[in-house]
Amino acid sequence: MTLKELIGQMTLAEKAMFTEGKNAWETPALERLSVPSIRVADGPHGVRKQNDTEDTTPEAAGTVTSVCFPSASALAASFNRGVFAMLGETLAKECKSLDVDMILGPAINIKRSPLCGRNFEYVSEDPYLTGELAGAYVKGVQRHNVGVSVKHFAANNQEKKRMTISAVIDDRTLREIYLSAFESVVKSARPDSLMCSYNGINGVFSSQNRKLLHDILRDEWGYDGFVMSDWGAVHDRPIGVASGLDLGMPSSGGVDAKAVEEAVKNGTLDESLLDEAVANILKKVDKYKGIPLLHEGDSVTARNSESSDNSQFNRSDDHKIARKIASECMVLLKNEGMLPLSTSEKIVFIGEFARKPRFQGAGSSHIEAFRVSSPLAAARHFADVRYKKGFGCDDEKLDEKLAEEAVLAARKAAVTVVFAGLPDEYESEGFDRDSLKLPEAQNELIRRICKVTPNIIVCLQNGSPVSMPWINDVNAVLECYLAGEAGGEACARILFGKTNPSGKLAETFPLKLSDTPCFDNFPGKAKTVEYREAIYVGYRYYDKVSKEVLFPFGHGLSYTTFAYSDLKISNEIDDVKINFKIKNSGRCAGAEVAQVYVGRPTGQVHRAVRELKGFEKIYLEPGEEREITVILDRRAFSYYSVGDAAWTIEPGSYHISVGSSSRDIRLRGVVTLDTVGAKENPHRAEELSTYFFGDPAKIGDEEFTKLLGMPLPEADYAPDEKFTLYNSLEDVKNTRFGKVFYKLAKLACKGHTLLGSKKMFETNVLETQMRNYFTWSGGRVTEDTAKALLGLFNNEDIEKNLKIVASAGIDLVKGRLTKRND
Ligand code: BGC
Repeated sequence: MTLKELIGQMTLAEKAMFTEGKNAWETPALERLSVPSIRVADGPHGVRKQNDTEDTTPEAAGTVTSVCFPSASALAASFNRGVFAMLGETLAKECKSLDVDMILGPAINIKRSPLCGRNFEYVSEDPYLTGELAGAYVKGVQRHNVGVSVKHFAANNQEKKRMTISAVIDDRTLREIYLSAFESVVKSARPDSLMCSYNGINGVFSSQNRKLLHDILRDEWGYDGFVMSDWGAVHDRPIGVASGLDLGMPSSGGVDAKAVEEAVKNGTLDESLLDEAVANILKKVDKYKGIPLLHEGDSVTARNSESSDNSQFNRSDDHKIARKIASECMVLLKNEGMLPLSTSEKIVFIGEFARKPRFQGAGSSHIEAFRVSSPLAAARHFADVRYKKGFGCDDEKLDEKLAEEAVLAARKAAVTVVFAGLPDEYESEGFDRDSLKLPEAQNELIRRICKVTPNIIVCLQNGSPVSMPWINDVNAVLECYLAGEAGGEACARILFGKTNPSGKLAETFPLKLSDTPCFDNFPGKAKTVEYREAIYVGYRYYDKVSKEVLFPFGHGLSYTTFAYSDLKISNEIDDVKINFKIKNSGRCAGAEVAQVYVGRPTGQVHRAVRELKGFEKIYLEPGEEREITVILDRRAFSYYSVGDAAWTIEPGSYHISVGSSSRDIRLRGVVTLDTVGAKENPHRAEELSTYFFGDPAKIGDEEFTKLLGMPLPEADYAPDEKFTLYNSLEDVKNTRFGKVFYKLAKLACKGHTLLGSKKMFETNVLETQMRNYFTWSGGRVTEDTAKALLGLFNNEDIEKNLKIVASAGIDLVKGRLTKRND
């Protein structure tokens, strides 16, 4: 039987059922036609399989223990496609042993601001690097017949109001910065699934954005997998089906399936669009589980023949892989000679992070780790290391007694290593940070120690950039990131020179928050966040305005040195070939990440000074020299022309820079490209002069409107705004009844945590769309109650609505809950 015939045998209700999850973690099944479910689990840096599939609330049940690998900002610093492939393959094996068919990752949104709470899960500020590394991960996982869902498509670049905010982005920026990594992964690695984001783009929620999910994804990029929603991102389900959202997750308890069925019946949804959605899902169900009716006569019906195969899976071995990966991810930011440490020195470790490392972030990626190693325990294998607490991981204020002991120990030691980092409650899914600062207790103790010894090294455990007010007074800084459960071992090996560090920053560390390109436009206003800095994200911005940074994109030191030479550029028919040599000119073996940047200093189009378009990580013995070849395809020289609605190359000369970082360029050359003329570029220098010649962090309304090519959408709610169930409590908190309910909800959140974070629990309640109250609560909140609340927020039928909510235990007159209502 063909897929079409199979779908032809389904009733309308059965087909509609396929547009929403069976529960929190499984796709729908249809026993009558022997269609099984596939099971998904969160990632991306470990398998977070939840025990209970029926409870659709995110806090449901416990999760299964598995190996916790470094999180994405750390992984990206490896600049190594092989590392991503190795992780993908390892995760696939873990998935198989746990009966998981699909991993919800990788997460590849661009780091627009260093404050985004989820940056630790995201790869980079650069779309090319993100696409290359994520592509390797996806191929690694899918090679073993486990699927991925690449997320969050698209423009989920902040956590604040992530469920309701609309990102205002011009087309060129969307294509070049925010869609580019997705495009690369879709085309090169063919992921089985994509997860749409919560937010909207230019006023249209991703879960019902046909331009995004259909025109671009399927028509332009040729995507043939299925699209699932982020958890609770569904709004109008029939519109979603018509727009290319195949599967809504998690289950809405049948609300969405019913709406889809009704829409087909009343003619507002074309049944063929529903059939397409079902077909997209079933193709992958068949790939992983086998749908027997599609294989009548075949000897093998279960496609995923390796399923539940534990034979190749051993957690202790995977822990070793986690260590190996972590060793490639740490970035030596500064070293004035103290590192590597000698094992015979008198060394003291200070800071609770040495003992209780922070190795992952909070939220849906949180893993029940298998075996966590601390830097202190690992270092004691190499040397006799003393320890003083100095400060606790979560301390804001310094405890004078602990501080005094630490300073005294530092004074007596030959070398002091301070382990600093961001506390758990600083960095998580669900909310953003509000500053780049480490807790003051940490900065203050480092300052005090600097006064008594010059021999101080700082090891950092954080998922995104921090400011370092003490940077000039310390000898060395090792950025360990959130390095997974084996990070402690990797860190100790690097400190003692057993491993030569080879990580490079996949993001810029700015000097201060006000230097960042979206400082004035992050996290936005009530309704929208305007991406006024346009393509000038990360190093593209700092280089454009020649701003000093703390550490540039691509930076990372080694215990050895590398010499670059012999740049050759040949312009071939379809691409440009770059050749150069690298020699290990130091005394120990090590790895270098050679980075190839393309820039076009003059022209009709405003552009970044340089953009990463190629990189290679290479291992060299002392004295060894190798030739590297990097191929730059036409896309490496293109910009997205809004006039042409296509990728276009301006004819003329392009600068090729080969470097050890974006600001340590070792070799330079030029290549001239002749191309067939592009259509007229609508973005003229006279109209967009700040983008061409000024500071893209300071764009006025007029210029941004010109760039957008449409009027600026309303950024705030009007005083008489009519809210919908797609709004959140945060949106309605200034209305008469919204104020009262917001306060009650906030109080009710006290004492609860969600996926490791109290703040995440609160933001989830306050910022989720109100529709999720009934689709997500497993019947605890009815649709009538949610609608009555909405009516009150809109000042409609007050008496009637007050009665309805009162019967559900919410007294909005007296401002109290009369029933326990979690
Ligand atoms: C997150 C996703 C995650 C999903 C399932 C959502 O809140 O944004 O990244 O995969 O939950 O846990």
